[in-house]
Amino acid sequence: MSNYHIKHLEEYYQVYRKSVRNPEVFWEEIAEEHFLWRKKWDTVLSWDFSKPEVKWFEGAQLNITENCIDRHLYTRGDKTAIIFEPNNPKEEALHITYKQLHERVCKFANVLKQQGVSKGDRVCVYLPMIPELAIAVLACARIGAIHSVVFAGFSSSALATRINDASCKMVITSDGSFRGAKTIDLKGIVDEALKECECVDTVLVVNRINSDIHMESGRDKWLAPLLEKASGNFKPEIMNAEDPLFILYTSGSTGKPKGMVHTTAGYMVYTAYTFKNVFQYREQDVYWCTADIGWITGHSYIVYGPLCNGATTVMFEGVPSYPEFDRFWEIVEKHKVNQFYTAPTAIRALAKEGVTHLEKHDLSSLKVLGTVGEPINEEAWHWYDDNVGKRKAPIVDTWWQTETGGIMITPIAFATPTKPTYATLPFIGIQPALICENGKEIKGNQVDGRLCIKFPWPSMARTIWGNHERYRDTYFSAYKNMYFTGDGALRDEVGYYRITGRVDDVIIVSGHNLGTAPIEDAINEHPAVAESAIVGVPHDVKGNALFGFVTLKETGEGRNQDNLRKEINQLITEQIGPIAKLDTIQFTNGLPKTRSGKIMRRILRKIASNDVSNLGDISTLLNPEVVEEIIKSVQFK
Ligand code: WT7
Repeated sequence: MSNYHIKHLEEYYQVYRKSVRNPEVFWEEIAEEHFLWRKKWDTVLSWDFSKPEVKWFEGAQLNITENCIDRHLYTRGDKTAIIFEPNNPKEEALHITYKQLHERVCKFANVLKQQGVSKGDRVCVYLPMIPELAIAVLACARIGAIHSVVFAGFSSSALATRINDASCKMVITSDGSFRGAKTIDLKGIVDEALKECECVDTVLVVNRINSDIHMESGRDKWLAPLLEKASGNFKPEIMNAEDPLFILYTSGSTGKPKGMVHTTAGYMVYTAYTFKNVFQYREQDVYWCTADIGWITGHSYIVYGPLCNGATTVMFEGVPSYPEFDRFWEIVEKHKVNQFYTAPTAIRALAKEGVTHLEKHDLSSLKVLGTVGEPINEEAWHWYDDNVGKRKAPIVDTWWQTETGGIMITPIAFATPTKPTYATLPFIGIQPALICENGKEIKGNQVDGRLCIKFPWPSMARTIWGNHERYRDTYFSAYKNMYFTGDGALRDEVGYYRITGRVDDVIIVSGHNLGTAPIEDAINEHPAVAESAIVGVPHDVKGNALFGFVTLKETGEGRNQDNLRKEINQLITEQIGPIAKLDTIQFTNGLPKTRSGKIMRRILRKIASNDVSNLGDISTLLNPEVVEEIIKSVQFK
């Protein structure tokens, strides 16, 4: 029996039991047999959720890029590591072999070193989905610098906040990016952001769109000439198991974004192991995850997990609708993709366009389909199953988070029988628990509660950059000795989990995790706004749409409401990015509040979704009369 490659359900249960009964022995075996270490660990695991402190493979030394690249050079040197599919289908796709990847990462690492970056320094990567993004990330890892990738759809002010939070000394960006029919001035956004960042002394610029941009002398440098002169070899920095590998920001329900810190050894072991099993990747397969490397999905399942397994991983620069709505299927056919991993919002958007787009293409290469990012509704699940997988490709509905680093609850393709809308069973080594509001664990099946994890797993985030207290408060204070996920879930009669959604003030729009507080902060900066509250309402394609209730100051009362709406969305775009724009803005005379002054979002959510039959007891509110008023104003429209 191979613990590393699970092929049927019985094997899953056997390996799962082993992993839970004796986690140290189990993970030691996996780590020992399947990875390259410069020095083995002294201790497999030490942990204390009350501090919280978690350490995996302490004492071990390694470099993750030796595992992702160097060790494949003899056996897979000429195998394609990355297939780059450009935004414009007329531009040729690139096949980068493991040998070429090695050379490019080494050259980039040498450039970073020459530019004064060393082990432990933070480097912000703000790039579109081009090969340089993956290469930059790996080059940082090779020299031991901590990468902080910021999704290239974020605004200059969101970028500045993230650069400053981690005190990055370098930014890696491009002159611009292609996105469907549009080009975006990325360098302009960086220039704007850097007006607020004193920590950055160097900006490396990739030429992607050939545009004539401003280059700040002494600070900005084109990457290509530097790479040309650099050597194609670089001896990897030897890292300790618990040295930070990267920081990745995720929005919280309050305050500024949280810089989740992931460390080296445990993250590597877990992402590689989950990748191999969940998707049942085989040596000759071509795997494609449509996420952006700016999110955790891209870190773990475009870059590290696949490359660690010597896989061929596709990177797509564009969008599903360009030049036509058949682009995904065209790419599947062109590269004969075997595993395809995307988000429910993309599935719903494509389903809406009808099956004719699919019928134009041969999708017979597809063996496994994946979904991630939010609960998948039954209709979308069946559409995916019937039309994309032709009922022959199992759907792995993978539940996990930026904080968890890797997939946590999921079917294992071909082993776990799937069930629409269910993420099914915990992955090997994962010990979930459902907890009721008073903190007690709910045992047995056919129950629901708040989803927690009882035992550490190798790829969990170790802290929030610069704020360990916030890490403890957010994840370890709600329930004693448990990691609290922020999600609700139910467990069915056979022990399958279904994730029901966030129980906090995070709203997932098109798979993007948005905190209500930062959006409300942006709105409240408008001089005419007194107060605001954001809720999510169900949306066919996006999963949730944002609905904002806004009360105006006296100065705003006479103003044209459509203009105000535009200005408010403009502020949100500037401060967070266009993904956080509100679909609906309703001006009201007040917001329902508890006597302690907390805005009752629960009530607003119901009003926004036109579900006002059962609002619960509102008599205890500070201002019950505004509820009726808001209902009228919303229904009147
Ligand atoms: C939140 C984490 C993990 C990569 C992408 C999102 C929701 C994620 C599922 C799923 C139901 C899901 C949860 C989670 N979520 N996957 N398969 N079924 N909900 O990472 O931005 O950190 O968001 O996404 O609510 O807590 P993220």
